[in-house]
Amino acid sequence: MKILIVGSGGREHTLAWKAAQSERVTEVILAPGNIGIAAEPKCRLVDISSDDIARLRRFALDEKVDLTIVGPEAPLVGGLTDAFAQAGLRVFGPSQKASQLEGSKAFTKRLLKKYDIPSGDFQVFDDYDEASAYLKSITGPIVVKADGLAAGKGVYVCKDRNESLAALDAIMKQRAFGDAGDVVVVEECLVGEEASFIAFTDGKTVVPLAGSQDHKPAYDNDEGPNTGGMGAYSPAPVITPEMHERIMNRIMIPVVQAMEEEGAPYLGFLYAGLMIADGVPKVLEFNVRMGDPEAQPLLFRMNSDMIPFMTAAVDGTLAGMEIEWAPEHSVCVVMASGGYPGSYEKGKVITGLGEASAMEGVKVFHAGTGHGPDGIVTNGGRVLGVTAKAPGIAQAIDQVYKAVEKISWEKCHYRKDIGKKALNRD
Ligand SMILES: Nc1ncnc2c1ncn2[C@@H]1O[C@H](COP(=O)(O)OP(=O)(O)O)[C@@H](O)[C@H]1O
Ligand SMILES: [Mg+2]
Repeated sequence: MKILIVGSGGREHTLAWKAAQSERVTEVILAPGNIGIAAEPKCRLVDISSDDIARLRRFALDEKVDLTIVGPEAPLVGGLTDAFAQAGLRVFGPSQKASQLEGSKAFTKRLLKKYDIPSGDFQVFDDYDEASAYLKSITGPIVVKADGLAAGKGVYVCKDRNESLAALDAIMKQRAFGDAGDVVVVEECLVGEEASFIAFTDGKTVVPLAGSQDHKPAYDNDEGPNTGGMGAYSPAPVITPEMHERIMNRIMIPVVQAMEEEGAPYLGFLYAGLMIADGVPKVLEFNVRMGDPEAQPLLFRMNSDMIPFMTAAVDGTLAGMEIEWAPEHSVCVVMASGGYPGSYEKGKVITGLGEASAMEGVKVFHAGTGHGPDGIVTNGGRVLGVTAKAPGIAQAIDQVYKAVEKISWEKCHYRKDIGKKALNRD
């Protein structure tokens, strides 16, 4: 099989690395990929942007690609799956209509309410004055979200009225996220512990992956601004076997059925962002793709071949399939450029990559790297996802930070407490 993977980050490096291990796969082509992926067996890059659906389709037809896997949300929301399907190409990913689950937070909140799937209370506004009057009428914490895609920056968790009005201003008046802020969703502020629950689905059957936990804020102890994710680990002890059942029965299976009833059957990775408190999981949001950085620890400990799950999802034959997991725990620490998620410099020479990669149970996934005159250099905000696997969570944390400490560049930044939440309860 010839596989095309769309995207260029750490998630795509992980998907490519995992796909290449499949005996069924002869070649993995990344559009556009990154230099870490180019060095993997069976993998090569093609210089087409992940948003250029017309060129991607032309390429997939010319190359006779057997299966396309879409990493990021934007091409899915942009209709890549529909365009490929019209040309007879097979894609693991939801249609444009089904991608509304991530593309519109208002769509999702209304769907959850209609089908009685647990989530916080909310209001939707398309008028600034009405939204502002509503925010002035409430006291205490509240969450203000841009409806559309905002690259993980459109959500403001506000502790008071000043903050919520400022958030509304940024979204609707300054139009910080363009059209994505034409509509705002105002949500009840939920408290608890967050977790990510990701599954393969063919529109009927839901095959769950192991639990995982991301670390969104930039600094230790969940302080500082939100990022694309600074690290993740799997399994997540907050998802006990009972909690797993509850999430499947109250959230994952019902939402897949709801999408079918709405005439938008859902196929692909389905990712629920959850807030768990007092044994009750509530939906914060859905993503229509694999998480980044959750992909790194999850796929690193997935023993099963990933490709049969994807082809079965496309064929509608997932029923009865189950994933085999390594018993080990895995942890990924994201190494970022100093200044990220704000402005940062690129082109810093990275040292220690070889030494870290040679360590037992360690894999260094690339996200934002490039070739410079003096070797591999930084080329993005999130630069590397250093990932380790070990029999216990404490050992995995220990091993991953030993690897991280071997790698450096000027103004490199990473969190020192990835995995601590799992450790504290063991
Ligand atoms: N209703 C809520 N209550 C409390 N925190 C929230 C709520 N909604 C979102 N958050 C916080 O904001 C983060 C980002 O929100 P999310 O809905 O996942 O949007 P996105 O990932 O698109 O930025 C969440 O991971 C969570 O930490
Ligand atoms: Mg999120």
